[in-house]
Amino acid sequence: MEGNSYEINSEIRRRLTFAIISHPDAGKTTITEKLLLFGGAIHIAGAVKSGKNSRAAVSDFMKMEQERGISISTSVMGFEYKGRKINLLDTPGHGDFSEDTYRGLSAVDSALMVIDSVKGVEERTKRLCAVCRMRNTPIMTFVNKFDREGKEPLELLDEIEKELAVQLCPVTWPVGQGRAFKGVYNLLEKKLFLFKPGQNRLPDDIQVLSGVDDPKLAAAVGSSFAEKLKEDVEMITAVYPSFSKEDYLEGKVTPVFFGSALNNFGVAELLDELVNFAPPPLPKEADERLVMPEEQKFSGFVFKIHANMNPKHRDRIAFLRIVSGKFTRNKMYYHVRADKAVRAANPTAFMSQEREIIDEAWPGDIIGLHDTGMFKIGDTLTEGECINFKGIPSFAPQIFRLVVNGDPLKEKQFHKGLSQLAEEGVVQVFSKLHQPNVRVLGVVGQLQLEVFQSRLENEYGASCKYEPVDLSVAHWISSKNKETLKAFAEANSRRIFVDVKGNYVFASDSEWAMNRVKEKNPGIDFHETSEMQG
Ligand code: G4P
Repeated sequence: MEGNSYEINSEIRRRLTFAIISHPDAGKTTITEKLLLFGGAIHIAGAVKSGKNSRAAVSDFMKMEQERGISISTSVMGFEYKGRKINLLDTPGHGDFSEDTYRGLSAVDSALMVIDSVKGVEERTKRLCAVCRMRNTPIMTFVNKFDREGKEPLELLDEIEKELAVQLCPVTWPVGQGRAFKGVYNLLEKKLFLFKPGQNRLPDDIQVLSGVDDPKLAAAVGSSFAEKLKEDVEMITAVYPSFSKEDYLEGKVTPVFFGSALNNFGVAELLDELVNFAPPPLPKEADERLVMPEEQKFSGFVFKIHANMNPKHRDRIAFLRIVSGKFTRNKMYYHVRADKAVRAANPTAFMSQEREIIDEAWPGDIIGLHDTGMFKIGDTLTEGECINFKGIPSFAPQIFRLVVNGDPLKEKQFHKGLSQLAEEGVVQVFSKLHQPNVRVLGVVGQLQLEVFQSRLENEYGASCKYEPVDLSVAHWISSKNKETLKAFAEANSRRIFVDVKGNYVFASDSEWAMNRVKEKNPGIDFHETSEMQG
């Protein structure tokens, strides 16, 4: 049954689908845990594990993940908070990561960026933030670990603005830091929340002062901190823009919060603002048209495929983000690429940390569909309309290896594994122009190479060897003039590769060399993702 418009609209308004982006160790797991704790999805701290050491992560599905205690997958956690159904997309926690992380961002409507106040802006944060900015995804920023001696708040803000090229708008402001951390002042509410250490403390347990003129201020934080806070608030209000919901929603500014996730401090305010301001499920661009969430008819796209969740059954789960309408279990839907009807039997939702079978789902929700090999990343399901959603591109790899068959007797299996695992998005495969047998694997994280090798062995009975190749940066290329593109490709054929869709990719051994080629060839457009404009 289709959902009626009243039902669809109220379900959409309730939903909030977001991801946390951060560099490993900034505190993503700790924050996730606090969010689940406040949302009542878990009852004790420590239930969500970051997957380090011997601890098993909630999202550890694959054998390899379990053996190595790392979380490769991007999984989903759903929970309720203050009347909203929140879908939190978890991104890989391990130091090495893959395109899954990037693609996961195509399935969310906003992001929470976590920055470690001691380390400042780190590499992974930069890359993930750039992907969000490409799509104008609204970002909220949490500067974590203020209970530790770290960088000065103003220095941090400057660094974030410069390194990430984002406009900031502080919503809370810290008083002291490290051992002298006294609390955070909420500039919107004009209230000071006094810091109190403790991991399981509930937000209600925090003392709140009414503002910088509160007579209790000096006694609570000391007169020098009280003075400093007054000065800081004046300066911040003069220097930074005041919070504008519109600018945040358009991805133009990121509101900034300070706190300490480990001490449960500042996280509740953050979650409250997220619930107040973060966008509900947004419309999504397709090649054909803009698809609105409140449309009566269901549509959704696959942004991730996870193989072998249960090693005994060799099954795969396709993660589908619902874009419009109501999804109903056991209904036949139209698989656009395959041009056939498929039945969505036993769809699963990811509530808190469990997978459970669901009967219906709504825009913003992410469901798992049992997959026997019929889905590829980017596939769309609809009620009959031909729609191809944009924004699920491949990303320019940063690590390259020549890949060769490791066992001449398993040539066929090797090729099958290579093409299927590439389709699934485990790695990208490029063949050299005019030399299709010379294949290079491209990945954004070293771990993808290990996953590829292990799955090739376990699932296809084949093996491969990697050989170094003198490449470190690659961009897709296009040109308004087909002849110009062809001439460029021929002239640089040594460095031209072809991706699985037949697009040209130019690869180079350094960023510097790449920039020179760009400067010298103004007629060629270079793209960091496979989704090329023009
Ligand atoms: P991640 O998922 O982003 O990788 O980070 P995670 O939450 O696992 O946090 C990384 C480390 O930082 C953990 O310490 C965690 O306890 C600590 N941490 C997180 N938030 C805060 C904070 O607000 N203040 C302080 N001081 N530390 C914080 P660990 O020693 O690596 O692990 P664990 O043994 O404590 O779990």
